[in-house]
Amino acid sequence: MEAHKKLTIGLFGFGVVGEGLYKILQQTPSLNASVKKVCIKNPHKKRDAPKELFTTDRNELLFDPEINVIVEVISESEAGFEIVSTALKNKKAVVSSSKKMIAEHFRELLKLQEETGESLLYEGSACASIPVIRNLEEYYDNDLLHSIRAIVNGSTNFILTKMFEERLDFQNALLLAQQLGFAESDPVLDIEGYDAVNKWSILLAHAYGIIEKPDNILFTGIQNIRLDDAMVAKEKNFDIKLVGQAKKLLNGKVAAYVLPQFVTHNGHLAFVKNEYNGVVIESNFADQQFFYGKGAGSFPTASAVLSDLSALRYQYRYEYKKLYHHGPHDLTDDFYMMVYVSFDDLKYIPKEKFEWIEEWHSGETRKYLVGCIHFQNLKDDKWWKTNNTSLILMPDPIIEDVELRKLKKKSLELAGIV
Ligand code: HSE
Repeated sequence: MEAHKKLTIGLFGFGVVGEGLYKILQQTPSLNASVKKVCIKNPHKKRDAPKELFTTDRNELLFDPEINVIVEVISESEAGFEIVSTALKNKKAVVSSSKKMIAEHFRELLKLQEETGESLLYEGSACASIPVIRNLEEYYDNDLLHSIRAIVNGSTNFILTKMFEERLDFQNALLLAQQLGFAESDPVLDIEGYDAVNKWSILLAHAYGIIEKPDNILFTGIQNIRLDDAMVAKEKNFDIKLVGQAKKLLNGKVAAYVLPQFVTHNGHLAFVKNEYNGVVIESNFADQQFFYGKGAGSFPTASAVLSDLSALRYQYRYEYKKLYHHGPHDLTDDFYMMVYVSFDDLKYIPKEKFEWIEEWHSGETRKYLVGCIHFQNLKDDKWWKTNNTSLILMPDPIIEDVELRKLKKKSLELAGIV
């Protein structure tokens, strides 16, 4: 695309994000961008924009030589991928916020960008209004990133806040998240962690050059968390959050997952409530940085799309520096985790798989333990998702050298300290 050329947009989708973008663009004349046509699925739905703007024929957008940018914000990932690939092949720049589509087709999209030389930007696909992708790409354009820890799903954070701080029940909290436009059309994607892991696989690419299908990353959502777990959290002065984490281990490999986690009250992530997202980045010399902002909703997501459109005016494109210039990192499953597990009956828990168990509580109805387990034992066999069991990571859960920890623990025990 030529420098500072007017952006003539073909918009796919007029839902929460599409309509938000349309409204924001009308209030941002300085951008010199306008929507020429909007492609929608249902022509009978009443929409708050001139009728002649809409079409159901995608080719009217994809093959219009005047349209130089396609914005794709629909929820169906396969249809989204078709649209994005055709647009790139037709020499149009693309902005998308479709995390599922991007995460599932990452390698194909990399190849298409290389072959066509066109930009594909997707800041709105992770953490909505927080500019995390561009930050990882540009500010952390080096190999110094130590770890990234984040709340990346607004709906589940909203539900946890409403349930455990405002005593709303799960169904009503979810309903509210849906009404406010935070939840996916299929909210199971939020609740069971699919949306978060899609975002996590995108962030892994920009943080460490790791291209991994979401299915290969260990994840779950908040579906198994119970009120009893929230009570334990309260006793221990913790909050429960759904957290994505990626950490470079001493051997240079990266541990990554998306799981519920206890966070300390004074930690950054405990501060993140409702539909807000938060990202804590640790790097070798800068130490910790915390990014905070709205992670879901119409205008916050549309504002990220708008920022991508603005970046297109100066031909911005992701260089995927960690992947192409620094040598990508590898994921590893070879580390240990400190976990809290609550359950109805001990018979459902494979005790022999734990390195050690350091807390054990046996209530009338609900029991729990805290112990150290190898990550592979969580990945290979999902015993912790069945029989009404719930798994929550302890704060700072990764243990790299279990033998050392065991020895230390033993020496403290011998000295009578623990
Ligand atoms: N359903 C998503 C969320 C929307 O709740 O985070 C923003 O990606």
